[in-house]
Amino acid sequence: MARVLVTRRLPDGGTDPLLAAGHELVARDDDTPYTHDELVATAGSVDAIVCLLTDRIDAAVLEAGAGRLRAVANVAVGYDNIDVAAAERAGIAVCNTPGVLDETTADVAFLLILAASRLASEAEADLRAGRWPGWGINQYPGRDVHGAVLGVVGFGRIGQAVARRAGGFGMEVLHHTRHDTGVPGWTADLDDLLAASDVVSLHVPLSDATRHLVDGRRLALMKPGAVLVNTARGPVVDEEALAIALERGELFAAGLDVYEREPEVHPRLLAAPRTTLLPHIGSASLATRTRMARTACDGAVEVLAGGSPRNLVTRPR
Ligand code: DGY
Repeated sequence: MARVLVTRRLPDGGTDPLLAAGHELVARDDDTPYTHDELVATAGSVDAIVCLLTDRIDAAVLEAGAGRLRAVANVAVGYDNIDVAAAERAGIAVCNTPGVLDETTADVAFLLILAASRLASEAEADLRAGRWPGWGINQYPGRDVHGAVLGVVGFGRIGQAVARRAGGFGMEVLHHTRHDTGVPGWTADLDDLLAASDVVSLHVPLSDATRHLVDGRRLALMKPGAVLVNTARGPVVDEEALAIALERGELFAAGLDVYEREPEVHPRLLAAPRTTLLPHIGSASLATRTRMARTACDGAVEVLAGGSPRNLVTRPR
């Protein structure tokens, strides 16, 4: 039997794989997050950690765990909160949750494409605040989604799921990845995709290469009537530059689910016009969040049993 730290309360049934394997769960009675210091202090007394994307599992935590800690399983597909290189150095396996949240996250990307293009948030806010004087021919002149050109940046499982939805809306779909996908619409140069798209939806993981991928220069390449949607990671976009582009009307609208410094949202973005801002709910359906928890726990169980799970992020030892 191994000791497994579960840093936050997971959806009902989420830890079933750990319990079924007979492991002891180390968890708080309430749902207060572990501080970084607490993670460092606890890492050496457990065999595995099941954590969330809000837990920073850096070299300090991993080095404190080295010797006993064998697995870190992130209940998320993105794992930029974990220092994977430090984990590999310490011989600790890292797992994530690929394949179980693609459709749910693509649904939210499409929600943002529609809401931002049709100014749904501004219109609803006016209605709720009693500012709607009744139907008006000039009210809320949005952009049509049907027939528009969608530029998908990053064409992994989620990007492809968004592209499939776009087909149903009669959109023309371009996509950009570093390597040719062989799929029609592949655009080698990101700048060309940005200049040609009416809607741009971001689906790249966060890395040194993608931090501020969409910066002031690239925002300026987009059409003045374009819409930017980000359901990937906040730091992929320079938020300040985005807020300025929206203020100046250089970009039509933005739909965001992720932010550079969550849970903070840049004050200029909060005040910027034509934005739909969601609190990182891309994968938030009960079924998907439960699947994510189980997938992460399955990975930890398999590593603890000496196996090499399919959701391993680190190189197998
Ligand atoms: C992930 O899994 O990386 C998502 O951001 C969580 O919704």
